[in-house]
Amino acid sequence: MSASNVRTMIWDGKALKLIDQRKLPVIKEYVTCDSYEKIYSAIKDMVVRGAPAIGVTAAYGVAIAANQFNGNSERDFVDFLEKAIVKIGSSRPTAVNLFWALRRMRKTITDLKGRNIEDVKAKLVSEAVKMEAEDIKINKMIGKNGIQAFSDFLNDKEKLKILTHCNAGALATAGYGTALGVIRSLAEAGRIENVVVDETRPYLQGARLTAWELHEEKIPYFIIADNMAAYMMSKNEVDAVVVGADRIAANGDSANKIGTLGVSILAMHFKIPFFIAAPLSTIDINISSGDDIPIEERDGNEIRELMGKKIIPEYMPVKNPSFDYTPNSNISAIITEKSVIKNPFKNNIKELFK
Ligand code: MRU
Repeated sequence: MSASNVRTMIWDGKALKLIDQRKLPVIKEYVTCDSYEKIYSAIKDMVVRGAPAIGVTAAYGVAIAANQFNGNSERDFVDFLEKAIVKIGSSRPTAVNLFWALRRMRKTITDLKGRNIEDVKAKLVSEAVKMEAEDIKINKMIGKNGIQAFSDFLNDKEKLKILTHCNAGALATAGYGTALGVIRSLAEAGRIENVVVDETRPYLQGARLTAWELHEEKIPYFIIADNMAAYMMSKNEVDAVVVGADRIAANGDSANKIGTLGVSILAMHFKIPFFIAAPLSTIDINISSGDDIPIEERDGNEIRELMGKKIIPEYMPVKNPSFDYTPNSNISAIITEKSVIKNPFKNNIKELFK
């Protein structure tokens, strides 16, 4: 199985099969989720990760919950679905796509009030299938807009050396990717000289997942330890940075994988354009600035262990914030499916949501 034929998720009509991202690229194995409780665990334990992939998985979770229900009272059905939505929503706090997807599924349920239970079940499945397809389409549009953003900020520079952090690729979405979608589009246009892949401690999404996707696509890349980014930039090994986002506040402040803030500060220092690539569903207009974005604190053992092997003894205290946010002042542009958002972010984001 190669990355090009590995799908992040496969809906088989009854259950959702998720490629186990904790084991990639060494082991390619699917986890079958046939209950909403399994969907909750798969998101929480990071079998599936990446904001858009979490969102689509959550939508399937609601569809699966509907099929788990075997009573005939509409009231009980709606209560059961609400319980499932609340449970799935408690899996991870930072990626807003999770809540966006659950809101959309809840609206589908509300809109079908009074319809027979079997109709609602079928509609919830088709809504989740639709969201999966839409996500791939949106990512391709982000990729196309990314080419424009790179031309605007890099004066049509022909061959590009791009640094990325974490994995915002096909694996983090239903397919194609956001930040990696932009890189894919540039590669299709023959414009990638090299991709510098941050390994992304502690979970190694860069070294394991992004590198694997690039390897399979035959896009030139090399992996660096996270603390090497400054050196690479100082040696002109990076023309631009593009990363994904988990939640973008109304003023453009963007939460992404821990370490992104540091990369943005370095990019600023070396006068390197820094782009966020994300769908509109990642923008949370109800949150005014990055300070209000909830940051997930994950289990300390993710720091103490490397791929299941203890490297730091239990008695040593650790901290494991999983995300940070980059202030809008460090961001050159936010690439979405609709347009490339530039400064002033607050006004331009507001315009998009009018
Ligand atoms: O903890 P993760 O692996 O879910 O974090 C993922 C990221 O931070 C991604 O960069 C972000 O979700 C964008 S994915 C298109």
